[in-house]
Amino acid sequence: REHTLMWKLAQSKEVELFYIEANAGMEKIGKKLEVKGESLSEIAEAARNEGIDFTVVGPEKPLVEGIVDEFNKKGLKIFGPDKESSKLEGSKVFAKELMRKYNIPTADFEVFSHPERAINFLERKDFPLVIKADGLAGGKGAIVCKNFNEGKETVERIMIKKEFGEAGNKIVIENFLEGEEVSIIGITDGVNIIFLPTSQDHKKIYDGDKGPNTGGMGAYAPCVLINQEMLKEIKEKIMIPTISAMRKEGKLFKGVLYAGLIITKEGPKVLEFNVRFGDPETQAILPLLKTDFLELLIASEEGKIGKLNKISLEHYYSVCVILASQGYPRKYEKGKKIYGIEKAEEKGCIVFHAGTKRTDGDIITDGGRVLGILGKGKTLKEAIEKSYEGVKEIKFSNMYYRKDIAQKGLAFLKKVYPSL
Ligand code: GLY
Repeated sequence: REHTLMWKLAQSKEVELFYIEANAGMEKIGKKLEVKGESLSEIAEAARNEGIDFTVVGPEKPLVEGIVDEFNKKGLKIFGPDKESSKLEGSKVFAKELMRKYNIPTADFEVFSHPERAINFLERKDFPLVIKADGLAGGKGAIVCKNFNEGKETVERIMIKKEFGEAGNKIVIENFLEGEEVSIIGITDGVNIIFLPTSQDHKKIYDGDKGPNTGGMGAYAPCVLINQEMLKEIKEKIMIPTISAMRKEGKLFKGVLYAGLIITKEGPKVLEFNVRFGDPETQAILPLLKTDFLELLIASEEGKIGKLNKISLEHYYSVCVILASQGYPRKYEKGKKIYGIEKAEEKGCIVFHAGTKRTDGDIITDGGRVLGILGKGKTLKEAIEKSYEGVKEIKFSNMYYRKDIAQKGLAFLKKVYPSL
């Protein structure tokens, strides 16, 4: 995601880019901003000393901890929501209660701060249910429970064993939503919102959406499940009501509003909100954007989204396949030499780096998700073929990837348009 953000920002005019931490892809685009310590105020201090005009934040943690407030205190421009507004992702309890108060469609739920009460509640419920830690848990804090025993064990893991630390002081127990999950990502200034292309992530580690959740094993855009009518409904019933609910609560929400939605039989419902770009959705979405990305982000910060025309897009499909280290999302090894990046690029793919690092001229693996291979095509099928052509060129020891990225989109298209 961060490499993609820099890759896209580098296409704007007269831009010089800096990073705080980089993989081998980002290193090629920008320069390192030296920061004395690790605190948010030291980061803001370093940005001021370097004369950085505008800052874009990749992950959720610094946003939830208040990096935007720190930059604003020093009069520095930064894209994203402040600490109060970041609660939309930082506290599941806050997000769910906001949705209930303002009638934003989501699964029915209860909040608990005592494990015994939560377990008593589970005794009276039908399963499956979803149990969520209130705070940030690195994408691992939402657990689907198929029966009472799994539910009880999950409550104990989160609230008694504190597997996610303080994030598990409170939990949300909610009904399981049946349907396909889609990602809606918009850029807002707190009043108006512009949608980036819709997309669909593949969160499970194995083909056929099996196995444990990951950060995301691949994505395609635009999402074929969402037509113009549904997008209008999502805008009018979910996205605009959410930013206006935030305003009514005294929070001007600026930045990325990313809704993970389930398309249920009764229509789209919110599974979760995020306040930063999706990963790997960003890798699939930004290559389709023709509008100047930096101008869009600055318009959010300056409250001028309403003044922008509609964004302009390439009429392509894109598919991003994540190459991961065997063992991810659990234990995996690092330090494996990566081969074939140029060859994949020669095939017409864009290679986005995630967990990579450069040593002695080689690029080696340095994380669970290592690379994202992006292919574009006039049809979804062509985009799938292109991305997997690129995947075939890459090699590193213990490489793992899903073979079915975007197949669910293709299956949907075949069902709706059998003649295709
Ligand atoms: N792709 C899921 C996420 O960014 O949270």
